[in-house]
Amino acid sequence: MMNLMNLKPGDLDDWWSGILRKTDRMLEAIGDASPHVSAAGVYDDVRLDWWTSGFWPGQLWLLHELTGSATYHEAAWPWDARIEQAFVRDNNFHHDVGFQFLPTAVVKHRLTGDEDACRRALAAAGFLAGRFNLNGRFLRAWNQDKIGWAIIDSMMNLSLLFWASERSGDPRYRQIACAHADTVLSRFLRPDGSVHHIVAFDPETGAVKAYLGGQGHAPFSSWSRGQAWALYGMANAYRYTGIHPYLHAAQRIAHYFVSCLPEDGVPHWDFRAPDLAAQPRDTSAAAIAASGLLEIARLADPEWGGIYQLAAERLLLALSSERYSALNDLVYQGLLKEGTGHKPAGSNVNVSLIYGDYFYMEAIAKLRGWTNRIF
Ligand code: GLY
Repeated sequence: MMNLMNLKPGDLDDWWSGILRKTDRMLEAIGDASPHVSAAGVYDDVRLDWWTSGFWPGQLWLLHELTGSATYHEAAWPWDARIEQAFVRDNNFHHDVGFQFLPTAVVKHRLTGDEDACRRALAAAGFLAGRFNLNGRFLRAWNQDKIGWAIIDSMMNLSLLFWASERSGDPRYRQIACAHADTVLSRFLRPDGSVHHIVAFDPETGAVKAYLGGQGHAPFSSWSRGQAWALYGMANAYRYTGIHPYLHAAQRIAHYFVSCLPEDGVPHWDFRAPDLAAQPRDTSAAAIAASGLLEIARLADPEWGGIYQLAAERLLLALSSERYSALNDLVYQGLLKEGTGHKPAGSNVNVSLIYGDYFYMEAIAKLRGWTNRIF
């Protein structure tokens, strides 16, 4: 049973000031690098077509919106064009274009009216829609030999398709997003509220061939970041469509997620890994879930919404504790420690992850009243 904690007056302002101080420092230090992993307090510089390249500029746009500062605007401005150029050069478009173009092109267009950004975001949405596999009704994940594979992470990319339908008036993007979300309801979501990471379909018949462990421990285990993507993505699908089964799914996943948390409130990287107490945590899963829970809190019946808000606040309190937070260390690059990227591959365990930082910042911004959603 986790320790129950509540926000104190001043917590949000303290965290926000820490985020601003750290971001300013990091901006000075990294220039135009694309941060993904900070293993010893120094962020790397990842290739721009990698799925995480939108999160740092997303932080900058969010801070620009909330502070009005021209410094963040200037630093964030070139990123959608840079990412597009990397994709076109290497012809390596993949299912994660939502993670990359929502916090860059879409938000840039919304905040500045830049039409080039809008064109880039629509092109990315068209590309994502083109990954739809008609038989089986899913968005195909990855490239190369993984034909017929779908992954839970794609739930978070659906917002790009919903946005594209709203922007263009063309319902095809939304129809594809709903078809994929319906397949997640029927093929990924388990009765207890947990979800699979990878479902391998026969791309010709649409039949399920196998469940794969992917970034989780095993096919029927429960990768905590995957649960968080599903929770948040289903809440978004409901926000865009008003289709109630999506909200109910988000709530089921949320109840499951919260019930699996250890005593200090920060999830292990997989809720069903063996010898759980000795397993690494994943602060990024906690940050994503916190931001998703705040969506459910806004969307659910007001009589019940409070429980989701409280659960989100408790996750943020846990993340802001001395063990997991780097807010008080200005030199260390990263807001959250103890993220886990890909444990089965042995990569990026017990590190800071840029998406953990992004969703932590986003969740705190939501609690401070920010409503202009990026995802
Ligand atoms: N590809 C998304 C993730 O690692 O969570």
